[in-house]
Amino acid sequence: VPSAPHLADAAEGALPYPVWIGRRAVDEVGAVAATAAPAHRWAVIADSAVAERYGARVVGTLPSGRATLFTVPPGEEHKTRASWARLTDEMLDAGCGRDTTVVALGGGVVGDLAGFVAATFMRGVPVVQVPTTLLAMVDASVGGKTAVDVPAGKNLVGAFHPPAAVVVDPLVLVSLPQPELKAGLAEVVKHGVIADAAYLARVAYLLPGLRAGAPPVADVAAWDAVEAVIARSIAIKAGVVASDEREGGLRKILNYGHTVGHAVEILSGFSLRHGEAVAIGMVVEADAAERAGIAQSGTADTVREVVRRAGLPDRRPPDMAPEAVVHATRTDKKARAGAVEYALPERVGTMASAGGRWSVPLPDEVVLGALA
Ligand SMILES: NC(=O)c1ccc[n+]([C@@H]2O[C@H](COP(=O)([O-])OP(=O)(O)OC[C@H]3O[C@@H](n4cnc5c(N)ncnc54)[C@H](O)[C@@H]3O)[C@@H](O)[C@H]2O)c1
Ligand SMILES: [Zn+2]
Repeated sequence: VPSAPHLADAAEGALPYPVWIGRRAVDEVGAVAATAAPAHRWAVIADSAVAERYGARVVGTLPSGRATLFTVPPGEEHKTRASWARLTDEMLDAGCGRDTTVVALGGGVVGDLAGFVAATFMRGVPVVQVPTTLLAMVDASVGGKTAVDVPAGKNLVGAFHPPAAVVVDPLVLVSLPQPELKAGLAEVVKHGVIADAAYLARVAYLLPGLRAGAPPVADVAAWDAVEAVIARSIAIKAGVVASDEREGGLRKILNYGHTVGHAVEILSGFSLRHGEAVAIGMVVEADAAERAGIAQSGTADTVREVVRRAGLPDRRPPDMAPEAVVHATRTDKKARAGAVEYALPERVGTMASAGGRWSVPLPDEVVLGALA
């Protein structure tokens, strides 16, 4: 059942680019791109799994003979300079010039990689982001960060390159493997905790249904609810990045759950998905915020309850020592001048602003206590 693609009310119009959302919106990519980023040539970039499902459909919406599908193998291990080099060479071979628009069709890996290709091809061409994972819809596709991974770490070479438009078709989530959907829910929960308690309560109500996977295509009411969640999450992220495009202050609140989360993710050898690690991180950091007297008591219990309803893990794996986690937070890039900085809730829906800094140093003992 299609829902007419409409402009998402992203951040009350604060974003400099439109976000279109609607069931079957992938069939409108050509129409949106023709207005937002008119071009002579179109380079649709997707990983091979997404290309197989949606590649031809998206290419079919673009002027015939002027759109080419370029693919990379799926997986974070292909978000590299080598993939960037191959894609840009293939685009040049195919005759793409300065008058090209890139369409990034896929999850966050392709969004980041194709976004970086667009940022650098001919010194920069427009990109239209068409996210196909929940994580990419509510997080990666909005904000303009693009990057590749390098041996020294993730996302260390990249550029800010905001999209010309974002097109979100929630219905593509029907083919997304359930663990990927669940991992994306962690960022949705994060948006509720950092900005909107009523939204968190609505999400908590929907989670038991969503953790099992996307609703059946014909369930209009369920899809309306999913669409509303995605739109609200995009609006929250957009509202934050729009007021802080280059991460000076407020944007730090989006790191909630991510300091402990990244540490746990790395220590697990990436056997935990990003969203799973962030779920653990959100619970631990809320607990630490209570212990430090920053968060109202009960905040961590609420976060834990919502995380459980999503079917996500709420504690570190038992074989992962608290000391090792704290040690790993020290190598995170958010550590500054010795003390590790955390974005912490004051209560659900409101983050603590230490004099407008939105992140505060926490003593190791406090974090150890929460991890234990
Ligand atoms: N730029 C940002 O602001 C930002 C924010 C958050 C995360 N990220 C980046 O996002 C990446 C993670 O993204 P992700 O979780 O979307 O992973 P992903 O892009 O690897 O996608 C996960 C898997 O799902 C498959 N897939 C995608 N859409 C599908 C669909 N509709 N149906 C069936 N299969 C589908 C893919 O082929 C892939 O195997 C990381 O590299 C991270 O650094 C970027
Ligand atoms: Zn994240």
